[in-house]
Amino acid sequence: MKRIAVLTSGGDAPGMNAAIRAVVRVALSKDIQVLGVRSGFSGLIANELWPMERRAVGNILQYGGTVLMTSRSSEFLTTEGREQARQILRKHRVDGLVLIGGDGTLRGGQALHAEGGPPFVLIPATIDNDVLGTDRSIGFDTAVNTAVDAIDRIRDTAASHELLHFIEVMGRKCGQIALIAGVAGGAEAAITPESPTDLDALCHRIRSDLEAGKRGVIVVVAEGGHPDGARGIAAEIGRAVNLDYRVTILGHTQRGGRPTAADRVLGSRLGSAAVQALVGGKTSVLVGEVRGDVCLTPADQVLAGAKTLDDELVALVNLLA
Ligand code: F6P
Repeated sequence: MKRIAVLTSGGDAPGMNAAIRAVVRVALSKDIQVLGVRSGFSGLIANELWPMERRAVGNILQYGGTVLMTSRSSEFLTTEGREQARQILRKHRVDGLVLIGGDGTLRGGQALHAEGGPPFVLIPATIDNDVLGTDRSIGFDTAVNTAVDAIDRIRDTAASHELLHFIEVMGRKCGQIALIAGVAGGAEAAITPESPTDLDALCHRIRSDLEAGKRGVIVVVAEGGHPDGARGIAAEIGRAVNLDYRVTILGHTQRGGRPTAADRVLGSRLGSAAVQALVGGKTSVLVGEVRGDVCLTPADQVLAGAKTLDDELVALVNLLA
């Protein structure tokens, strides 16, 4: 392996820069040249590649976002777009690809490889933590901590006014952020797309908690936990308990910000492991961390299943409220 390319694709996630830095520095230490690709698969199709040296990834570890930039490329979903991408990779004599992103990025790598593209390894990076083959994806820990910080702040005001608060966190199809932030922030409930919530029971609990002297109630809602997100849930519960309420949508605040130490270490570790996997002749695999160990999972296996919520934590968020 003489030359690899690295790109970030899909929603950015804090810690992507740590992974880019590790890919570049570990590859260079093995005398492998690295080309950075600007803006994910769109930049690949547009031939936006440049050589990266050690210093190109200096002073980036501590920043959110991605220095390579990212995109959600509709052109890459077409066979013509991927054919163009393959030609560019051939022209630059790229022997291997490191893709940093979520399951959409993995599907892109697989399609490219199946049509004759180079070997590839995926580093899972998405705040949603909805990719199989790793306990945590890069960015999840930072996003959860951002959400918990917001919950703590809102709890101060909720307790002062004895109001109902609904906090919407990201996750259109997945409630990992809602669940973990809900447990860590001591929320009264975490509403997720995966596990149905008994709204009657929740309303009953809210009423009896307030009657028993609870000051302020916080419900964390994943974007996809209701067709109208937190606003929809808030309207239903507010009406049922006949109380005033407020809705806060954290939105893209969760995607930015300084990556936590955990995300920096995870990005560094998986970046290094991705290069080693390519050098070792692996392809079409995800490099993840499971119970503390770095491990490789075939892309087919990753895409065949769906990550589920931890039942113990689902029960705990209600039990501890
Ligand atoms: O990348 C994951 C994610 O952050 C989801 O949680 C969210 O639903 C989506 O991206 C938002 O994407 P966009 O920035 O394209 O609106």
